[in-house]
Amino acid sequence: VVQAFKSAVLAGRHVVVTAGPTREALDPVRYLSNHSSGRMGFAVARAAAEAGACVTLISGPVTLSTPAGVERVDVTSAADMEAAVNRVIDDADIFIATAAVADYRSAQPAAQKMKKSTDGLILSLEKTPDILGQVAERRPDVFTVGFAAETEQLETYARAKLTRKRLDLVAANQVGDGLGFGVEDNALSVYWADGSRELERAPKEQLARALITLIVERFYAQHP
Ligand code: CTP
Ligand code: CA
Repeated sequence: VVQAFKSAVLAGRHVVVTAGPTREALDPVRYLSNHSSGRMGFAVARAAAEAGACVTLISGPVTLSTPAGVERVDVTSAADMEAAVNRVIDDADIFIATAAVADYRSAQPAAQKMKKSTDGLILSLEKTPDILGQVAERRPDVFTVGFAAETEQLETYARAKLTRKRLDLVAANQVGDGLGFGVEDNALSVYWADGSRELERAPKEQLARALITLIVERFYAQHP
């Protein structure tokens, strides 16, 4: 782990990281979102910068301070995040998607605050863009890393994402049992086409360094 950081092994490389949740407006005062804290993504951005990379961190709404030496872009919705990624992806070498992007948004966000009626409410939702999937499809030269938080069948679902989105690496974590969202410690099972590695339970900062070390290893295996 130490070696990657001592030798600034990512010097001259541009790493783009997405982090945090997105918020999808229902009306001017309400939104759909999730419990992502952004901590894993910010730790990954910090670790990439420590390894010498030029890092762009594109973050949804979180309450974290920007790691030293990292360029941060704040966004709100999945559409904003997609646009921000597209603005910086041109010269990227590595794209790490840690963001918990909302999968759905309102098909017709209300222009004015919705008023309560006597009945229930049925919302019509549409899918948000798959930011990571699009980067992997349009830019096969960029080394793409996805995250998968799963409550069951970790390897099966993680490998399905690796194949379906044509990713280079998937970092999967089990959610529930005191691990995952909002928890300081995390553990990752990392999968690529012909291999896997377990990164054992550790504080997110330490785990992020281990993940960057593995990403560097796989990246240079493809770019000798
Ligand atoms: N992701 C993304 N854009 C989306 C949805 C997901 O960039 N609209 C990225 C996430 O940042 C993550 C990876 O895709 O790196 C996998 O996210 P996940 O939610 O696990 O995958 P989905 O394809 O949305 O599948 P599901 O939610 O059904 O498990
Ligand atoms: Ca999802």
